[in-house]
Amino acid sequence: MNILVVGSGGREHALCWKLAQSTRRPRLYCAPGNAGTALVAENIAISQEDIAALLSFAKSSKIDMTVVGPEDPLCAGIVDHFTEAGLRIFGPSAAAARLEGDKAYAKKLMRESGVPTAEARVFEPTVQELAQQRQTGLGRDEAPPSLETGYDMARHYVSSRDEGVVVKACGLARGKGVFVHEDPSEALLTLEKLMVGRELGEAGTRVVVEEILTGPEVSVLALVDGRNIYVLESAADHKRLGEKDTGPNTGGMGAFSPAGMLSESDLEIIERDVFVPIIDALRREEIEYKGILYAGLILTAAGPKVLEFNCRFGDPEAQPILMRMESDLIDALEATIDGHLDELALKWSSKSALCVVAASGGYPGDYQKGEPIAGLDEVAALENVEVFHAGTTAGPEGVVTSGGRVLGVTALGETVHQARQRAYEGVRLIAFNGAYVRGDIGMRISTR
Ligand code: AMP
Ligand code: GLY
Repeated sequence: MNILVVGSGGREHALCWKLAQSTRRPRLYCAPGNAGTALVAENIAISQEDIAALLSFAKSSKIDMTVVGPEDPLCAGIVDHFTEAGLRIFGPSAAAARLEGDKAYAKKLMRESGVPTAEARVFEPTVQELAQQRQTGLGRDEAPPSLETGYDMARHYVSSRDEGVVVKACGLARGKGVFVHEDPSEALLTLEKLMVGRELGEAGTRVVVEEILTGPEVSVLALVDGRNIYVLESAADHKRLGEKDTGPNTGGMGAFSPAGMLSESDLEIIERDVFVPIIDALRREEIEYKGILYAGLILTAAGPKVLEFNCRFGDPEAQPILMRMESDLIDALEATIDGHLDELALKWSSKSALCVVAASGGYPGDYQKGEPIAGLDEVAALENVEVFHAGTTAGPEGVVTSGGRVLGVTALGETVHQARQRAYEGVRLIAFNGAYVRGDIGMRISTR
């Protein structure tokens, strides 16, 4: 069996690592991959954005199944193109992936189907505002959408509030499009940057402004085959750069599974009140959701509420989740594609897993690349510990850094505490110039 994994992060290394353990002994390819995927798969030098090249590679190399890691190719329709060409591929269509790619659309569906979520309003510049921006050289050229609410309305709405707000770019912004402002006057600045200054381009001219939710944050991922939902083991990640959840948002500085703060009954509530109604809402729009559906939630005093949907495995959540999966991942992916999730029973380790990310100094802002990484062999020798590469490349003199999140040391333990000790023991063996590691991954399990 030939399998192609699309992407180049820690999530994709974890996917390749898990697929490589299948008793079906697949031949694995990863496009474009990293120095870690190269250990278990053949890296193919095709960008994850180049759908035409990926499709022609899949045809010529007789790929039996493609697994897509990141959201960009999913939102750009890679699944639609592969399916039209008669190729098997794991992930949602572009129409279904809009749940992640367009936060205003996700809010609308949640509202219509009664999914608990933060109170929110959506704003985009009015026709007149766009015309004005164009006169001052700030606008875009294509025909503007006609909407009643605009930048002025957004400002008015935020100014009239005496509580903090969250401002979110509607489109894909690689984790950089969410701004939590305790002080509403700071939110005005963000509105200006996004809606007038277009700092995030087209992705940010439309914004969602929503209430700040408080409580522990969890990630609940489910396999969805269009009809059936299989909720995976829970996880939680740490999105802020700094310890005690301070500093800017990142893609995720570490994660653990299970999320101890989630009870069985919380999970049942989430399946019944989040996954079921949102899949039904999509079906009413004649959209079939197939693949991973990831709900990011806050466990508020009034129950779990959705922050966002993602249309793929989380990164770094996939690393601890896949380390705890004892069943064959290929079976799970095939059951999803073929619509047999009702027949799937997965086995999970009762152990905990925890992933600590080592990032380049400066991330999520600018950072150096090409720094040699030491200690990888020493960590590989540890039991119950895996190093999942993210921003790495194999150079002539060894593995060097090539991204913001460089790698994620992931460990299994009897408890989260033990998994954390092992992961940190591993990460301490890794060294590269400017390496940054958050010291408190997994240390906020108790709350609620
Ligand atoms: P999102 O991409 O929507 O998940 O937002 C990124 C991160 O911002 C989340 O993981 C939360 O930590 C934080 N966040 C987003 N929305 C809210 C909210 N309404 N209240 C509090 N924190 C939020
Ligand atoms: N770790 C958060 C995400 O994958 O979106």
